[in-house]
Amino acid sequence: PVLIAAAVVGGYLLGSIPFGVIATRLGGAGDVRSIGSGNIGATNVLRTGRKDLALITLLGDGGKGAVAVFIAWLLTRGGGVQAQASLTSLAGGAAFLGHLFPVWLKFKGGKGVATFFGTLLAAAWPVGMAAGATWILMALVFRISSLAALAAAILAPIYVILLGRPYPIALMAAFMAVLIYIRHKENISRLLKGQEPRIGKKKEAA
Ligand code: G3P
Repeated sequence: PVLIAAAVVGGYLLGSIPFGVIATRLGGAGDVRSIGSGNIGATNVLRTGRKDLALITLLGDGGKGAVAVFIAWLLTRGGGVQAQASLTSLAGGAAFLGHLFPVWLKFKGGKGVATFFGTLLAAAWPVGMAAGATWILMALVFRISSLAALAAAILAPIYVILLGRPYPIALMAAFMAVLIYIRHKENISRLLKGQEPRIGKKKEAA
């Protein structure tokens, strides 16, 4: 019970660190929430024209998910595969929720894509690699970040099963995928209208 509470609270707090907001502010690029889609993620940080800050955001938001999972993994070493998968999934899911609903930003967080990748890479790296490859392939073909994320999200739980990883990780991946779709509601309606901006092009404030 103590471990479960620690995974949820610790994961949430780690996940709630908004690297996009911190990086753009400290980097002198203003507040990322006032440009482009208004989102706090790396894709929108890129619209400031600062690739360095976008990379920091991607690594920070991804890294916090990975760190949450890694700490849970360390705490459950020797506890059996299923118990370990359960606690790491719980910590990863909590970090993901922290990114979406950070207490520091009045619970108005991001869309979770970078944190989803970091969490998956740490929980089951072949799954993270497969999902990452899906994103990269889709982004190379269509040049739309949200579309690449939506494709990777829906395939991730399937990759967990295909690659024979424990079912709590499949549950975590499915949970994150559902929330990613809900968070991309506006992106999905722009995609359907053919109005979603391509990577590398700036966009007017939403
Ligand atoms: O990572 C979020 C991405 O999928 C979409 O971001 O800023 O284009 O809404 P954005």
